[in-house]
Amino acid sequence: MCGIVGYVGRRNAVPILVQALKDLEYRGYDSAGIAVLAPESNRLVIVKREGKIARLEAALAEAGIPDANLGIGHTRWATHGRPADHNAHPHTSCHGEVVVIHNGIVENYAELRAELVSRGHRFASETDTETVAHLMEEQLAEGHSLLDALRLVAGRLEGSQAIVAASPREPNALVAARVGNAGGIVIGFGEGESFLASDLPALLPHTRRVVFLEDGQFARVSADDVLVVGRDGARLEIPVHEVALDPSSALKGPYPHFMLKEMLEQPEAISDTIRSLVTFEPPTLHLDDVPISPERLRQVQRVVLIGMGTSLHAAMVGRQFVEQIARLPAEADNASEFRHREPVIDARTLVVSVTQSGETVDVLEAMAVAARAGALQITVCNTEGSQATRLADGTVYTRAGVERCVASTKCFTTALAALYGLALWLGHIRGVLDSGELQHHLSELMRVPDACARALELRPAAQRLAAELASTASMLYLGRGLAYPVAMEGALKMKEVSYIHAEGYAAGEMKHGPIALIEPSVPTVAVAPKHALRSKMAANVEQVRARGGRVIAVVTEGDEELIRLADAALPVPEVSRLAEPIVAVVPLQLLAYETAVARGCDVDQPRNLAKTVTVE
Ligand code: AGP
Repeated sequence: MCGIVGYVGRRNAVPILVQALKDLEYRGYDSAGIAVLAPESNRLVIVKREGKIARLEAALAEAGIPDANLGIGHTRWATHGRPADHNAHPHTSCHGEVVVIHNGIVENYAELRAELVSRGHRFASETDTETVAHLMEEQLAEGHSLLDALRLVAGRLEGSQAIVAASPREPNALVAARVGNAGGIVIGFGEGESFLASDLPALLPHTRRVVFLEDGQFARVSADDVLVVGRDGARLEIPVHEVALDPSSALKGPYPHFMLKEMLEQPEAISDTIRSLVTFEPPTLHLDDVPISPERLRQVQRVVLIGMGTSLHAAMVGRQFVEQIARLPAEADNASEFRHREPVIDARTLVVSVTQSGETVDVLEAMAVAARAGALQITVCNTEGSQATRLADGTVYTRAGVERCVASTKCFTTALAALYGLALWLGHIRGVLDSGELQHHLSELMRVPDACARALELRPAAQRLAAELASTASMLYLGRGLAYPVAMEGALKMKEVSYIHAEGYAAGEMKHGPIALIEPSVPTVAVAPKHALRSKMAANVEQVRARGGRVIAVVTEGDEELIRLADAALPVPEVSRLAEPIVAVVPLQLLAYETAVARGCDVDQPRNLAKTVTVE
């Protein structure tokens, strides 16, 4: 969850680190800090503050931090120790010989800390991370190099970790470790300079030539050289990737919030995703990053789709695509439940993981369970080179570009487009969908970007409704069929960004409990486009209204009956049945955004959240 950055080269590290932290602030934002190695004194200088990067910047200006050619920085999402200056990273050891930044949880930290205290170490924070600095200092004192000290200490830590460290003993290098799935470490290669980061966005302004560390790999990074070793210390040859992401796509531009920018980017992002999967004239599918033979795919008897949060909602839609298009038994599951449940899967199961970041620990651990069972795996992912793409047998990339707002929007709609494409591909390969049907579906899918662009024109209507919703305490979202996961997603968006309590339900469930909540002060959002069991949804709307509830309905343009029945309507353009969820979610995103703005919330960085969840 935390953001990690490092720089070693010939330029002043401080502004580079601060900008990189801003690029990663979406990962965690309860405190931030940097450490540099002052060139003249060869001393570590650490500045850190509770709160956002802006507070760190003010502290840096006040502290008069020296120019330096080597440094590390961190933006924190607290796990051990409340957000406070002393718990912010970087953390150092008793004698200031080591400075450490960390992402993950040292599960045996209490034991390690007690052991260190018994040897006379004094701790300055309540964090698990600080134990790493103390343990490394002991290893340096025994004469080990910085890289070996990190490697030996990592061997004593339980849990998953990504760690970067520096020391005045080796003033020209940073060291890094990746153990388990707590988060990535990417090394970037510049001209006479090198970079380290937890995620690509921090590196893209400087370089696109990168190396991703794998589980059990350790690196020493200097301005002109990178050495990667395994757990045993033996040198490894690691391929350098050239990434294609456009750094400008990660800038906010004239928009007040990334969330707005990213919602408005959806037509293009969906179009890019479809184009990356389809060749035209005649339209056919090509999943270039899924090198799985048709024979192997034909052995699949069941599909399990997994994800968390918004990606789970995409998986729930994907499950229906797979059932209805490829006619394969399919289910969708929360990855963190799946992994602990001893699921019944085998080589005839296809596990499809949906993950924007490709680094969500619950998803990666679930993928590991699937791998042990011999299941075939495809990931639907937005991040090239991420761990999920390396674990899976194939990847369907969403082409959303960098998503910076913690609340996911364009990665949801592009994931739906990609899952639609994947289901079509499976159906075609398995012979349940002939070329004519495939082409019909593809031409329907290609109408989606325009329909989303028109749905985005509902922003003024969402703004008007938001003015009323701003004082609401609680909301219900209802949907059926493909609109059920859309209702769940609408409710998640609302609670994430506006802090209004919102629950998504299958509308058929309403009479079995949630109806007790209906009263004038609890608005209901009914997701009722034309093809999602619309007449049954109309009955639900009647039932809510009959109990004095107020209804906002997402309907298909021209559905005058529902428009009249509801208190307010958000009409979306008509598309085919399977494409409906991609368009129907757009007004719900707008409603959540405008309500959050009306309530004065921190839209892009809601409290307590982080963009990429790398702890369980
Ligand atoms: C989305 O708005 C959320 N912030 C969150 O639910 C997110 O979708 C979830 O953490 C999964 O992330 P991933 O797609 O990167 O795996």
